[in-house]
Amino acid sequence: MQTKKIAILAGDGIGPEIMREAIKVLKLVEQRNDIRFELTEAPFGAAAYFECGHPFPEETKKICDEADAILKGPVGLNYAESEKIPVELRPERGAILPLRKRLNTYANLRPMYLPPGLAHFSPLRPEIIGKGIDIIMVRELVGGLYFGAKETGVNARGKRYVKETLEYDEEQIARVAHVAFRQAMQRKKILHNIHKNNVLKSSVLWNEVIEEVARDYPQVEVRHQLVDAAATLLCLDPCQFDVMVMENMFGDILSDQGGGLLGSLGLMPSACLGDNKAYYEPSHGSAPDIRGRNIANPYSMIGSVAMMLELSFGLLAESKNVWSAMQSVFIQGYSTPDLSRPGSKLKLINTDEFGDRVVEVLSKLS
Ligand code: NAD
Ligand code: IPM
Ligand code: MN
Repeated sequence: MQTKKIAILAGDGIGPEIMREAIKVLKLVEQRNDIRFELTEAPFGAAAYFECGHPFPEETKKICDEADAILKGPVGLNYAESEKIPVELRPERGAILPLRKRLNTYANLRPMYLPPGLAHFSPLRPEIIGKGIDIIMVRELVGGLYFGAKETGVNARGKRYVKETLEYDEEQIARVAHVAFRQAMQRKKILHNIHKNNVLKSSVLWNEVIEEVARDYPQVEVRHQLVDAAATLLCLDPCQFDVMVMENMFGDILSDQGGGLLGSLGLMPSACLGDNKAYYEPSHGSAPDIRGRNIANPYSMIGSVAMMLELSFGLLAESKNVWSAMQSVFIQGYSTPDLSRPGSKLKLINTDEFGDRVVEVLSKLS
């Protein structure tokens, strides 16, 4: 019997609500398999700031360092509430980015997946969404503008100014490119490289390195696509995409667009992978507008568990079972309200009932 340590960072807003459902799934998985999960909850985000004075307390760092994998809920507050925390100690700058840097999780896999039976969740017309959508976005996660040097001040003309740096070196680009090419090799062997080389020097280097890495994967066809047009093509013809690779900010924006194209950000789980460590989190935020109402969609959090089972613990069959359990809850006509549209015949259920139903279906799958 193996034991795996999992750090549980429930986070803010809907974080604790959706994490509760993810833990139900983990508990069932451990009952059904030759594995024990040692779950350690740790404060992280705005809640940690108000409780301990820091959004990423030392104790949480230690728990993360010692864990085999980390399951993280979303963090952050709404605009007005954020103002109560000093800028550098807000959860995004003070907790998420430092977590990513500390673990060096440079490759963020954000699947956009709607199987044929769920294609109607997409706001795209049936003739466009076709038999559903199956894309993996690979987002670089520890470089670029979000991590570059920043400077603010007053310039010689007495005007306030800001300077932010977008920096990548070839090694940072190559390592995430390898992750994307390996994904492409396991799938349709088509890789869309998303860039902006008509303006940004960073994209010129990015594309050069993509071409160099491509030599190691001669079976993969690389298609270069400017990011602005990619945003349109995702709406007009999403089925042409299979694996997409891009730098940090492009990936942040296009993956949220991805959630919109599926029908809800609640359908977007993710895996943040480094060479030695990985953590798993929904792509979306803490949804302050619906927090505490037991209506958030826990799919993104439970899907992040499914990714953890596969990628950190090698429990491939069980990971597939978790995906199909969630999908069969939808196929039976149940959903949290985020996927409901005027006139839709969905049977609306709450966050906890969604989790219970997933557990019930999963317990019958082998
Ligand atoms: P958001 O992703 O929290 O919410 C956008 C919209 O999607 C909202 O209407 C919300 O209700 C809905 N939504 C998101 N997840 C949902 C779910 N699981 N079920 C149902 N509906 C869902 O974006 P925001 O409101 O711009 O940001 C809120 C906070 O989250 C901010 O402080 C932001 O910085 C933070 N944030 C954190 C992360 C993270 O922890 N990785 C990611 C993105 C944003
Ligand atoms: C995400 C979020 C984060 C990001 C923020 C909250 C730091 O938007 O995970 O997509 O920009 O990476
Ligand atoms: Mn984002």
